[in-house]
Amino acid sequence: MDLITPLAPMIELGRQNDGSTDSSAFARDVAQGLGQKQKTLPSRYFYDGTGSRLFQKIMELPEYYLTRSEIEVFEQNKYEMARQFSGGGFFHLIDLGAGDALKTKILLKELSSQQSNFDYVPVDISGEAMKQLSESLQQELPQVAVEAVVGEYFQALEWLQENKSGRKVLLFLGSNIGNFETEESIDFLQSIRSYLKPGDRLLMGVDLRKNPDTILKAYDDAAGVTAAFNLNLLHRINRELDADFNVDQFCHHAIYNPLEGVMRSFIISKVAQDVHIRKANVRVHFDAWEAIHTENSYKYSLPQVAELGQKCGFAAETVFYDSRQGFADILFSVR
Ligand code: AVI
Repeated sequence: MDLITPLAPMIELGRQNDGSTDSSAFARDVAQGLGQKQKTLPSRYFYDGTGSRLFQKIMELPEYYLTRSEIEVFEQNKYEMARQFSGGGFFHLIDLGAGDALKTKILLKELSSQQSNFDYVPVDISGEAMKQLSESLQQELPQVAVEAVVGEYFQALEWLQENKSGRKVLLFLGSNIGNFETEESIDFLQSIRSYLKPGDRLLMGVDLRKNPDTILKAYDDAAGVTAAFNLNLLHRINRELDADFNVDQFCHHAIYNPLEGVMRSFIISKVAQDVHIRKANVRVHFDAWEAIHTENSYKYSLPQVAELGQKCGFAAETVFYDSRQGFADILFSVR
């Protein structure tokens, strides 16, 4: 007889009663971003099904060193990380922006082998990514209790506040913090802090400053996967907001500013053109070579990260590095 284990529960935040996602927020943000003098589109909209698949491919690119570096951090330090997390009894391991949880799985295996008492709560904006993760965890680590949450970070934090009262270890990996502007990262970490209590921890992955050429290549790869990832934003607007972007008339452009330590990505209109976005009720004009700013990826020095943590009510306890000291996962306690 085949025993069918039910899939781990999945909480979907921000859904309408009919099960559809909130496309009016998307329409509003697109209209607002493209209505500005300097056009922008929020990078959180990269991650529809296609965007999430393209991001998976980015993480496997030879140029995109970030994921491999962080995997190395986890492989080298998993014993110590698991030991530090587990002292203090049961905890919720909350993984903000979990994706495929490639790095977290290293930790989950180690926590299981140390017989730690915890449950795992991956959070991601992509429902598809959370479904696949729940399925793969059921196959690979059936002993781990999993409850996946689909939603934006702040929605998820509110849900966690109401539904997960025990000790928390929060993971914010992959240098996701780098996608926030400085002020936004302070707001974000302060709100994370307001959901945590003494005894809770935050492990944050940060891409450190390094040779600008290495950074630039990571965001402008030879195979053009990052370009496709960036331009998928226009395809997504066409699909979901009934727009008529001719995506071939746009190109990807990435530039690193070593003064600010920020990689900025743009979509550039190659010709003068007009686009109609029906569901956002706007027509947008692009001059030839006009840019849409789509993403920031900040790179930090270690003192900057410690100071950022300090400003937001955290104290850096342990810094876990990769062998080149180009990437760090910093374990913060709550001050
Ligand atoms: C998710 N985030 C940390 C990635 C980064 O490196 O900023 C997103 C990305 N954008 C282009 N390549 C990868």
